[in-house]
This record gives sequence, structure tokens and C-alpha cells, in this order.
Amino acid sequence: MNILEKILPPKTEAAEITQTNQDYTLFSWSKQKGINPIAVKYGDGVYLYDYDDKRYLDFSSGLMNVNIGHGNQRVTQAVMKQMQQVSYVTPGCITKVRGELGKKLAEICPGDLNKAFFTLCGASSIENAIKLARLYTGRHKILSRYQSYHGSSNVAMTVSGDPRKLPVDAQQAPNFVHFDLPYLYRWEYGEENLLKESVAGLERIIAYEGPGNIAAILLEGESGSSGCLQYPAGYLQKVRELCNKHGILLIMDEVMSGFGRTGKWFGFQNHNIIPDMIAMAKGLTSGYLPFGCLMVSDKIAGKYDDAVLPLGLTYSAHPVCCAAALEVLKIYEDDNLLENAGLMGKYVDAGMAEMKLKHPSIGNWRNTGLLGCIELVKDKTTKEPMAPFNAKPDEMVVMNKVATKIRELGMYTFVRWNYIFVAPPLCITKEQIDEGLAIISQAISIADEYVPLI
Ligand SMILES: Cc1ncc(COP(=O)(O)O)c(C=O)c1O
Repeated sequence: MNILEKILPPKTEAAEITQTNQDYTLFSWSKQKGINPIAVKYGDGVYLYDYDDKRYLDFSSGLMNVNIGHGNQRVTQAVMKQMQQVSYVTPGCITKVRGELGKKLAEICPGDLNKAFFTLCGASSIENAIKLARLYTGRHKILSRYQSYHGSSNVAMTVSGDPRKLPVDAQQAPNFVHFDLPYLYRWEYGEENLLKESVAGLERIIAYEGPGNIAAILLEGESGSSGCLQYPAGYLQKVRELCNKHGILLIMDEVMSGFGRTGKWFGFQNHNIIPDMIAMAKGLTSGYLPFGCLMVSDKIAGKYDDAVLPLGLTYSAHPVCCAAALEVLKIYEDDNLLENAGLMGKYVDAGMAEMKLKHPSIGNWRNTGLLGCIELVKDKTTKEPMAPFNAKPDEMVVMNKVATKIRELGMYTFVRWNYIFVAPPLCITKEQIDEGLAIISQAISIADEYVPLI
């Protein structure tokens, strides 16, 4: 014991945990000094608890992945049972649970999306989707949207249209092309022109890049961390038509929008289309174990009936992750979580409509099921954002105050630039939503003070 340790009072458990984490681990997407993470002791339903027994309402389901809520012991039991039988087999061996999970996924996926290639996370689903699209079509270019996120490995980061990739710009992979897709709130040329212009813009990019060079278009099933920037009505159907016309594959990234988050199994089901591949992760195991899946159509899979499929991962179809996923899928059904997401989403919409009247800083609220985002502005007429796109730390002063208040009042959620995300676990109740909206309302009052009085 050094002299300081003798003089100072002993550290609390929370302080010790924080110290060890900060001394020996690195934190994603942030400066390493000056951060103040919550030390989580346990989770139960929609709540997280820290070492001082403070309760936090988890209004972003972790990173929009803990869809069934925290601490569900059915998953623990399923995982333990599988571990007691066999914890690992090579992807060349098979297990009962791997086949059962593949069959279940084929049942919930529409059309001929019947073959599952199991991965480790969202990024590895995306990497394999892109690799397979190029192999299958013999083409090299991939088109995707600015203001999208598909993961942080090199290829997934390149295909993303997220400013998180700008610090590693020099490491971007070749043959990725991004297109801009406006969203209604910030579109100034009439709603009736939004779809037409969006489709025309994409058509031009396809023509410029050469349709015969384009392997796939990759889009999120519903926009997530870029701000829930919803598609113009009818847009995805038009994209599907363009893909059909030019022999381009359509890959939907359902990593965040999948598994009930939008009130349907998959976000694209709100748009009446069927893609050629679906990238999955997050809600597949509700974050209980890291896992992902690339679901492919029979047509694509069929090409590899008599040819080698050049994809592989040591942990593909990991039996314990398969067991967690299979149980989580049963929970979605047994607890009617898709239906609840739709109903509770409408309840949040109603609450938000009231909040909009009360708070001058709420510029826009966008939501599908329980994938929602509040956009704060300094002025409802000019729509000047409370913090700009890719805000620098000194531009986040007001939003940081709002975020600090949210946490102080006992909520964990995702605040980015001028966005506050509302994406609680799908098991949430009306009372818990009321509790959450009251916290957000109180915190947003801070931002209201920065809106000039007219
Ligand atoms: C839409 C989308 N795709 C892919 C990813 C990457 O997933 P992972 O972090 O599991 O690699 C994310 C993560 O937030 C996501 O939101």
C-alpha cells in the first residue's frame, strides 16, 4: 500500500471498476481521457443498474440491439444447456441447433431468402454480403447511401456513409460509390418532388458508374444511427425496380432495423420489397452473444451447389450463439414483441406530438416502430440544428448539457449531434414510455432556452 492509499479513504467498488477499465482497456469512438462511462452491475428488462444501485431506463436498447430487454433468463438457460452439450464445433461439422436456426430464419424471411451463412457481428455480415455480391455478379462496384452506417471493419466502414470513417479516409477500399438521399424534413422543394428527384439522382449515378459494373446496392432496412432518415414513400420499390432492370443485387442491412425493431421482422417489410440478401446481427441474439447472419436467396445460394463457396470464419455457426439466437427468436414470438413494438411506437408518437407543442427546440420526430429520433433545432423556421452534422466538441455544448441531464435523471440513451434516439427494448410498457418521455422532456427544456423568443 503506498502512502496515498493509506491516507485516502478506500475507493468505492464503482470507482475501482472505472479505474481498472480506464487503465487497461480502450474505448470506442472517443478520446480516452475525460470519459465517464456507467459501470453497469446488472440489467433487468428495460433497466440497467449501476454499482451505486442507481437505475437507468435504457431508451436505446444498448446500441439498438437488446430488443428483448436485459437479463432474460430463458437465453441464459438455452446458452448453458448448449455449452453443457458442446461449446464449439468447426463450421465443417454440424449441430442440431445450427439447422434449427437456419430453418427458423428461412421461415421468417420472405420470398426465397432461405439460406443462412452465420457470421460474428454486423460488420462481418456486411463484408460477406459484399464479397458474395461481387462473386455472384462478376461485377465490382457497390453503391450505398451517404448518411448510413454498416460497420467499422475496413470494407464495412468504406461502404458506410458515416463521418466516423473520415479519420481513416486513407484506408478506404476501392470500388465503392455513395449517393445522397434527402429526407423530408430538410427537403425544400415540395414533398411531391422528393421521390422523383431521389430516384432520378440514383438513376444518374447508375448511368455514370456503368450499370454493368455495379454488383449491388446496399441500404439499411430503415435508417438508424444516421438519424432515422426515413426513405421517401415508394423509394425502396423504385430501387428494387432499378436493380431488377440492371441485374444489380439489392442487399438490405437489417443489423439495426431487424428483429421487430420497426414493428415487423425486418425494416424493408414496411416498404413492400424483397431483397436478394439480408445482413443481420444485433437483434438476432438481442446482444446476449455476438453473432450475425447473412441470409441469401436460393438463386444466389444455388450457384454454389457445384462450386466452392469462398466464405469462411472459425466461429461461423457457433453453436452457443445459435442457441442464444434460436431462443431469442422464440421470445419475440412468445412475448408478441413485434406487435408490442408497433403499438408502443404509436404510443411514443402520440407522446412526442404533445412534446413538440411544448418544446420550441423539437424540430422533427421520425419514428418507425421503436426506431425513433428527435431532431433538435435552434429555430423551427430556419431549422438550424442545435448541433451541426459531425459536430466538433465545442459545437456540442448545448447537446452535452441535454445528454448530461438525461443521464442524471436516470436514463441511458444515444445522443449524437442534434439527435436524441428513442429505441427502447420492444418489451417496454406505456408506463415506462411515460417515464422516459418525462425525462427527455425535462432534459430538452435546457435546449429550449437556446431557442430565441419570437
Ligand atoms: C445498420 C448497421 N449495420 C451494421 C452495423 C455494424 O454492426 P457491428 O457493430 O455488429 O459490426 C451497425 C452497427 O451499429 C448498424 O447499425
